[in-house]
Amino acid sequence: MAWERRRKLAVAATRRTLDGQPRAPGGEHQPPPGAAAQLLADGRAHERAGRMPQALAAFRAAVDAAEAEDSGPVLAEALRRLGVAHVLRQQLEEGVALMRRSYGVAHRLEEDVLAAEALNGIAGAYIMMGRWSDARDTFRRARGLAAAEASVRARIDQNLGIIANIHGEFELALAHYAESLRAFEMAGDVQGRALAYNNLGMISADRGRWEDADRYFRLSLELADQLGDARLRGLGLLNHTEVFIARQQYEAARGSAEGALRIFEQLGFRDQKSGAYKFLGVVYRETGRLALAEARLRRAVELAVEAGSTLHEAEASRELALVYQALGRNQDALKLLTASHRLFGRLDARVDLVDVALKRTKLESVYLAVVREWGQSIESADSYTHGHCERVAAFAVAVARALGLDEGELTTIRLGAYLHDVGKVRVPHEILNKPGRLTPEEFQVMQMHPVYGIELLAAVEFPWDIKPIIRSHHEKYDGSGYPDRLRGEEIPLAAQIIGIADVFDALTTARSYRGAMSKEQALAIIRESPQHWRPDVFAAFNASVGV
Ligand SMILES: [Fe+2]
Ligand SMILES: [Fe+2]
Repeated sequence: MAWERRRKLAVAATRRTLDGQPRAPGGEHQPPPGAAAQLLADGRAHERAGRMPQALAAFRAAVDAAEAEDSGPVLAEALRRLGVAHVLRQQLEEGVALMRRSYGVAHRLEEDVLAAEALNGIAGAYIMMGRWSDARDTFRRARGLAAAEASVRARIDQNLGIIANIHGEFELALAHYAESLRAFEMAGDVQGRALAYNNLGMISADRGRWEDADRYFRLSLELADQLGDARLRGLGLLNHTEVFIARQQYEAARGSAEGALRIFEQLGFRDQKSGAYKFLGVVYRETGRLALAEARLRRAVELAVEAGSTLHEAEASRELALVYQALGRNQDALKLLTASHRLFGRLDARVDLVDVALKRTKLESVYLAVVREWGQSIESADSYTHGHCERVAAFAVAVARALGLDEGELTTIRLGAYLHDVGKVRVPHEILNKPGRLTPEEFQVMQMHPVYGIELLAAVEFPWDIKPIIRSHHEKYDGSGYPDRLRGEEIPLAAQIIGIADVFDALTTARSYRGAMSKEQALAIIRESPQHWRPDVFAAFNASVGV
């Protein structure tokens, strides 16, 4: 499981880079005294106080004054700060143009650190434009120029780590974060170190390296306490909670999440409060207190919606789905997982600063697990079909692979196999388990199960196209199947694949009215009726089951 906090921290890291704050001791370029330098200082003061229009005006005036005074370093700095201010207001092109001018001035003066700062700002803007490879190249050039300046180098490595993480390059991200940590240490920047430990902890947690994550979060928390920085402490506590949950230390997890919640209540950070409620919900769910779990997770979803955080909403929805599953409310669980899937699809790596692919893969495996367990719980009512869905899934996936279907289609087929007979829950027990042949009336009821399945799942919009499988898995190529008597290409390919796997498994397992056939006997029967199957499906089945 991967939680949100990355966003806040990573954004903080980017902002720190973009606006060049905070500077490490000795990292500040002292501009020569003069009007331009004073205007620049005024601009910085306005910026710190959040008075952006005044800050922009002061930086503009500082640029003009520095040009008049012919004061190069002040001009470079003022241009860069003006550029960063534009970027933060989403005026990306203008911001980049200003920072390019800043770089030009610094380069002519051979002021390497100022030039590196300008490139760092430009690369930050490239991230916001989604120009990843330009961003990476520019950060690397900046790092080369800032070799002697630890505090600048540290922030550049932090950003390179974030880019690597977004692209799922775990080892590279780790290396950049570790490098950044060393540079923060050299620069004596305690807050920078705390931030680096936090990023290291989060990336380790995402990859399930709990021991590393635990160590990094503890180190980060120690530094946060040393600094008396409430926000950092809150984030540290929140992040650490995930480690306790992974280790099933639920009391420690609850304490940590509640501590984080108190801090974020004070600070009024709704999206982080959502994260804390989510963890509390998970703790209650894992300790069997489902009503409390539901309440906390609902609150987490609400707060995420209020804060406009797609990532938090997606993650809280996924956890709430697992509560519904535990309550046996499978349809509600799938509805929420579908919503969560859609939200994860909307995540924007540039904005959320996360490895979107990793998050989607993890969500899809949760989805598959919920569907599989539901399929199995349906079977358990019918002792003869125990393990039927699992085997149909395995045969069908083998046939689909032989047909060269892609990974997405294989997922559809697997999910369809787990739920293909979900409608049988509406078929009376005595018909389902009748020893001996069904009467025509009973057979008619039995033949309704694909339609019942569709009715049962009417409220669930699956991200994969599995309903045609449920409805049409008993259709036959020659039109002799049910419930719609489809024929030929009218039958969806996936339904034919599940259909042939279903028949094979039915024949090779014992039923209430007969014993199990051998694989050879079953194949011989299937091969007597090739007209039931699409020719390519029939061929792929023969090739993958073989004898
Ligand atoms: Fe069926
Ligand atoms: Fe079946």
